[in-house]
Amino acid sequence: MDFAPFIAGLPKAELHIHIEGSLEPELMLALAARNGVSLRYGDVAALKQAYRFGNLQDFLDLYYEGMRVLLHEQDFYDLAMAYLERAAAQNVRHAEVFFDPQGHTDRGVAIKTVFDGLWRALKDAERRFGMTTALILCFLRHLDEASAQRTLDEAMPWRDRFIGVGLDSSEKGHPPSKFERVFARARSLGLQAVAHAGEEGPPEYVHEALDLLKVGRIDHGNRALEDPALVARLAREQMPLTVCPLSNVRLCVVPDMAAHPLKRMLSAGLMATLNSDDPAYFGGYMTENFLAVQQALTLTRDDIAALAGNGFRAAFCDDATKQRHLAALAVYIKV
Ligand code: ADE
Ligand code: ZN
Repeated sequence: MDFAPFIAGLPKAELHIHIEGSLEPELMLALAARNGVSLRYGDVAALKQAYRFGNLQDFLDLYYEGMRVLLHEQDFYDLAMAYLERAAAQNVRHAEVFFDPQGHTDRGVAIKTVFDGLWRALKDAERRFGMTTALILCFLRHLDEASAQRTLDEAMPWRDRFIGVGLDSSEKGHPPSKFERVFARARSLGLQAVAHAGEEGPPEYVHEALDLLKVGRIDHGNRALEDPALVARLAREQMPLTVCPLSNVRLCVVPDMAAHPLKRMLSAGLMATLNSDDPAYFGGYMTENFLAVQQALTLTRDDIAALAGNGFRAAFCDDATKQRHLAALAVYIKV
């Protein structure tokens, strides 16, 4: 069976997408020119040449450098709209979009600029494409907790524009425990909580994300597989993992796609979802991620359908919205 058309048309939910990681080289260069920002790379080919990463930090260095072209409300709008157009074209019906306010405010960009541009794009995309969307504000874990607390304070005027908080950036040496208090405060404000854990960091960080940050999803979670008791717990609690296959290969979390643990996750009864992470840097959006694992791991049509269903089930949208998306998926699967 040729899975490409089935996967292309499959209704999908994306729960792990860093909007700054969807900045395609072409747009990066256009914004650099528009804003008079000089980059180390003069053209698309030179930029793409640099997209060879030995680990997460290699990538993050380029990711933060690329963000420097984002200065004005329209830049954030253009960034988000470019992602949402691509996502809609791949039949992403629901997207929960991460953003890194500290990556912008630390460069002197007002948080209002970030919120206004992203929000306007999300609302336009909902109208244009009939999709549902939400924002999740991520704290940079290489910075201290006081900075995260200040960021949450600064975001409060826009409390109604984000549904949750996340934790990203350099994982090793920055355990979830470092952010226990700011996550407790965020949860007390009614926000959802997620955290990157077990991407490069040890299984202990997944335990901490669950027990200390009390997250509702684990972002990545690959290294949880090293701890059988943790696997049993994640399966028992049906804790969603937002797995990002192309990212894992590009950041050398796995040696190649054939070695990706997705199938082992499913066999262990884990609630895995598929996501693109930083699609502009890792060679593909949702459809490419689905296709890559289908081919490398010879997933069946039922596996693919289960993964898509997990995406909607693990979403933070209200129950009626979730059921509407799941019903559309069920109709698609049947025909
Ligand atoms: N920020 C953007 N992408 C990330 C990733 N894959 N891991 C941690 N932080 C990130
Ligand atoms: Zn991520």
